[in-house]
Amino acid sequence: MLAYSAAVPDPIFSDRRLAEIYDPMDPDRSDLDAYAAMVDEFGAGSVLDVGCGTGTFACLLAARGVEVIGVDPAGASLDVARTKPGADLVRWIDGDATTLPSLQVDLATMTANVAQVFVTDESWAATLQGIRAALKPQGRVVFEVRDPARRAWQEWDREHTHETKDVPGVGPVETWCDLTDVSGQLVSFRWTNIFHADGATIISDSTLRFRTRQEIEQSLRDNGFTVDVVRDAPDRPRRELVFVATRES
Ligand SMILES: C[S@@+](CC[C@H](N)C(=O)[O-])C[C@H]1O[C@@H](n2cnc3c(N)ncnc32)[C@H](O)[C@@H]1O
Repeated sequence: MLAYSAAVPDPIFSDRRLAEIYDPMDPDRSDLDAYAAMVDEFGAGSVLDVGCGTGTFACLLAARGVEVIGVDPAGASLDVARTKPGADLVRWIDGDATTLPSLQVDLATMTANVAQVFVTDESWAATLQGIRAALKPQGRVVFEVRDPARRAWQEWDREHTHETKDVPGVGPVETWCDLTDVSGQLVSFRWTNIFHADGATIISDSTLRFRTRQEIEQSLRDNGFTVDVVRDAPDRPRRELVFVATRES
């Protein structure tokens, strides 16, 4: 087992006020359709959703009769998740893939680019090992990352991201992103969030890692998986790499 200390999640997920606006600021979750289709395709009766955040995917699956475990280190996001319809059908775990109880699931998922939050090789390997341990033999993991060749961060600026939305129960919220650093595969950026109802400004700094397809395939093999296929995300063609891998027995 690698020595790895779980990272503290970014404020955008762990600050209460920011977690509460995560869904209303970005309500289009058609990205989850491809994952729901894979749950059906692989006949998965049990799913571990790693980095489940505010629980949209976990609750969607639970409503379909799938046994779901959602794990995330951001307590504020889990608090939002627990308020959703069907949340009582999900087993929520405050932690990460390295702190799981004994599980035997058919499928593990990481939706919405969770795999990019693991900026060190150690944290990524520990996450894959934790997922592997939670899977049944021949269980699968599916996840996406942004294709680094598309250099998505070139649009992480005010011109492309600035918006104001009227969030029910909260009032107008103004947000924008600034790119703060690009160092090799590490891309850092800052979200500024202004709550106009009381004037509060909450800043969230994040760093994501843009690994190549080859590096991710190698990391899966190094941690006990066979790479079945790398797909396109149907809702974001040629922008994402969607990995499907099977646990080697
Ligand atoms: C972009 S959000 C995606 C949330 C959710 N999967 C979705 O589709 O909305 C990234 C999530 O990764 C979580 N995260 C951060 N560090 C993590 C870690 N070490 N292990 C698991 N999840 C982590 C964050 O708290 C956040 O909820």
